[in-house]
Amino acid sequence: MNRFWLETYGCQMNKAESNALEDTMLESGWIPAEQPQDADLVILNTCSVRLTAENRIWGRIGYFKTLKALRPHTLVVMGCMAQRLADDLKKAAPAVDMVVGTFQKAAFARMLSRAASRKQSLTQERQQDEEYSFSSRHARKTDYRAFVPIMHGCNNFCSYCIVPYVRGREVSRDPRSIFAEIDGLLRQGRVREITLLGQNVNSYRFSSGPDETPLDFPGLLDEIVSRFPVFSAGQTAVSGGSPSDVPWLRFLTSHPKDFSGALIERMAAYPCMCRQIHLPVQHGSDTILRSMNRQYTRSDYLSLVERIRKKLPDVLLSTDILIGFPGETDEDFCRTLDLMRQVGFDDAFTYYYNPREGTAAWSMQDTVPEKLKHERLTAVIDLQRATSAAKKKQRLGKKVRVLAGEISRKNSSEILGRTEGDEMVVFPGAASLIGNFYTVRLAELRGNTFYGHEVAE
Ligand code: SAM
Ligand code: SF4
Ligand code: F3S
Repeated sequence: MNRFWLETYGCQMNKAESNALEDTMLESGWIPAEQPQDADLVILNTCSVRLTAENRIWGRIGYFKTLKALRPHTLVVMGCMAQRLADDLKKAAPAVDMVVGTFQKAAFARMLSRAASRKQSLTQERQQDEEYSFSSRHARKTDYRAFVPIMHGCNNFCSYCIVPYVRGREVSRDPRSIFAEIDGLLRQGRVREITLLGQNVNSYRFSSGPDETPLDFPGLLDEIVSRFPVFSAGQTAVSGGSPSDVPWLRFLTSHPKDFSGALIERMAAYPCMCRQIHLPVQHGSDTILRSMNRQYTRSDYLSLVERIRKKLPDVLLSTDILIGFPGETDEDFCRTLDLMRQVGFDDAFTYYYNPREGTAAWSMQDTVPEKLKHERLTAVIDLQRATSAAKKKQRLGKKVRVLAGEISRKNSSEILGRTEGDEMVVFPGAASLIGNFYTVRLAELRGNTFYGHEVAE
């Protein structure tokens, strides 16, 4: 009676938290089910950022309700949607046995470890809310790309966004716990890439006492690089390795208002830092940026990009674009297209606005008709596709470092890997290469994927 099935939706933070939960469960005797039908316990770790994300979960709840009729199991809805819609879930979905919000995740994990070891059944009670606490480990033992949460929550209250309501205020993780997790990952010997994670990673600020100078994000990077010599150029991650084994360090997600000159300096100074930044702009019109409460103007954003590119000329930039916000006129929309052309993003995640109850924008009149939102979104996607393709073409012929990820699905004698800019690269190779760095010359572009051959460093 201790097989579990865990499904994770939403952002990397949810994925990292699911990994930590799975780790606890495996250690306390739970066994992963091979398919949902075999599970005694089903956990859905959910997202609320858009209605589509929630609708998907309602669909999964319906599916598990049908499964329950064939074979009973305990169904748990956990995470941001559980935080936002606890009462609705209990009323509208009797198939759901437990609702575990953001601030009950840690208590739930403790309960699961007790339940498996003592073969107790799970209590159907809602856990008590408690302060958010970081798990000590967030990667699977087999992972070579690891996420390390360093802060949680958000204080920005962008007017469209549900995250501050479902994740609460910003909390920075004790650096000693961050260093211990990184130490564990490096000792494991497999990890080649670490992403420092948070809803608003650049506002990291930890103070160990009222008289102590707080450690900020650039300071945290300094500490990591100085404590772990493997992140310094010339050191190697594996014995007998080459300098190109220096692991990658990256971070996610940045808010433009918190992206300081000191951080740009650190990125330029430390070769382990991936030359890639995800810098969500959301919109190109000052009127909309103000109404979104983004706390920067178009010109602030453009001058930040200029400063970044001056110090890091080869940096790859990606962004989030949010189209169809209340009040968005044709002119506002064109300013977004214009900003995209001006910056020339390497990649963009594009969304159309979705009202979220409880946010400041919920009471604003949704003035952009659905059809127009879709048309505008299509224009944004088309522009980004053309820009991404043109930028990628410019990179043909270049030698890049690639982290080998998996056997290509199309050809078993080829490997699919990623560059430090998270671009897909396919090159000839066998499974033994997976989890190591190679130098590859980019020879051809098919769709979004580069094809190349391994070359000398
Ligand atoms: N913290 C990040 C930042 O500062 O931009 C973003 C986190 S949010 C989980 C990821 C993206 O979802 C946002 O950048 C935004 O573009 C999009 N998003 C957030 N709320 C949305 C909404 N109500 N409708 C559509 N997209 C939304
Ligand atoms: Fe949401 Fe804005 Fe916070 Fe990002 S910075 S999580 S978009 S409120
Ligand atoms: Fe979704 Fe919650 Fe992440 S709302 S995007 S899973 S913080």
